[in-house]
Amino acid sequence: MKKLTELVQSGDWKNEKHVPALHVEQKDGELSIVAQVGEEIEHPNTLEHHIAWIKVFFQPEGFKFPIEVGSYEFSAHGEEEVFSKPYVKAQIKTDKKGVVYAMSYCNIHGLWENSQEI
Ligand SMILES: [Fe+2]
Repeated sequence: MKKLTELVQSGDWKNEKHVPALHVEQKDGELSIVAQVGEEIEHPNTLEHHIAWIKVFFQPEGFKFPIEVGSYEFSAHGEEEVFSKPYVKAQIKTDKKGVVYAMSYCNIHGLWENSQEI
């Protein structure tokens, strides 16, 4: 039996539509994080096939574990033509360096991750 971590997929977000694209900027003691699935290649967004959630983590340099800094659920999947887009923006107060992680979940294709060092 595989561990859950072995089932998390990754890749280049410009070529694989499930990988959350990450844009991270740090200035004035704050960390701005944008995570989006389907930035380059759009992911389906229907009741049958959609991104259900994105979670964002930050692991400060020298800290043992990643800290969950945001958890976002996308609840509308076409009701009355209303669709939640798998796009999030997190604003974190820290001047520490480290690694930002994003994880997304497609209801058909499972778990996907990306990371960026700052
Ligand atoms: Fe999918």
